[in-house]
Amino acid sequence: MNVENMNDTQTSRNPDVQIVTQVRHYDDRLFSFRVTRPQSLRFRSGEFVMIGLAGDNGKPILRAYSIASPSWDEELEFYSIKVPDGPLTSKLQKIAVGDELILRPKPVGTLVVDALLPGKRLFMIATGTGIAPFASLIRDPEVYEKFDQVILTHTCRLNSELAYGAELVENLRNDPLIGEFAQQLLYYPTTTREESQFEGRNTDLMRSGKMFEDLGISGFDSSTDRGMVCGSMALNLDVKDLLEGVGMNEGGNSNPAEFVIEKAFVGDGV
Ligand code: FAD
Ligand code: A2P
Repeated sequence: MNVENMNDTQTSRNPDVQIVTQVRHYDDRLFSFRVTRPQSLRFRSGEFVMIGLAGDNGKPILRAYSIASPSWDEELEFYSIKVPDGPLTSKLQKIAVGDELILRPKPVGTLVVDALLPGKRLFMIATGTGIAPFASLIRDPEVYEKFDQVILTHTCRLNSELAYGAELVENLRNDPLIGEFAQQLLYYPTTTREESQFEGRNTDLMRSGKMFEDLGISGFDSSTDRGMVCGSMALNLDVKDLLEGVGMNEGGNSNPAEFVIEKAFVGDGV
């Protein structure tokens, strides 16, 4: 099928089957891709859906994926790990433009503005592929209407793992339509196993106060600061502890509070 005409055929297509429109590989562990969006799909920036491919036995292999594109985008973007023997990602990493992707259009999740009490600064704290929901949120004007300042901190082992986020922020700053919002965004990428501008775990850099110093902003104030957290279980627990320590409470869709947490993946027996 001709890629340019794919959106024209959306109404007649099964909403569970979408077509890949773009693929980008960052290194041997990470890639992003874009697919057509079912016209019926409405979601809130920050939510996740189930996506997948047909397995060898014909049964779909489905996994949770944060939608990395904002809710206004006419396509859907995803940012993915490549797990060498992973049932889904060992196949997914080979997708190409024109391929089919299974998508269950039932978005859910807690990393949404609605699950937070009103505030002034919004801290987005991510490790690894946990940046995906924030890739959606930092491109959504609603976030900047609700918060004066957005601070995105992303910790990875290596510089190459920061590439997707760095490019995202760069593109946002240069975007003719939403670029004006980037003035409200502070980006703080850090590496833990390679030299870079900011080194160390974002948790340690927050605890020591170095992150606030580097960014030229004041420390946490639970009355006006809000948080969103997405990383490994270890990161999530660590940040929960840190934010509770400064007087914030965890919230959710039915009980908005000062911060919300989502797992970036379910790992190794956790
Ligand atoms: P699996 O059998 O699912 O995983 C095998 C092992 O690989 C896991 O036990 C874990 O140790 C490791 N692993 C899995 N995913 C990751 C990851 N993202 N980062 C580091 N290690 C990992 N993954 C994404 O790549 N992008 C997303 O946007 C994303 N969003 C998610 C949102 C939610 C709410 C949840 C619960 C998971 C999300 N995941 C995401 C993880 C995703 O669901 C799959 O686990 C991942 O795609 C690997 O699938 P797999 O079948 O190849 O391997
Ligand atoms: P580190 O290299 O010090 O373990 P992973 O690939 O294991 O998911 O980790 C991704 C990034 O998140 C790494 O830079 C890692 O740092 C960091 N990280 C892992 N656990 C935590 C944690 N509990 N708190 C903060 N950062 C963490």
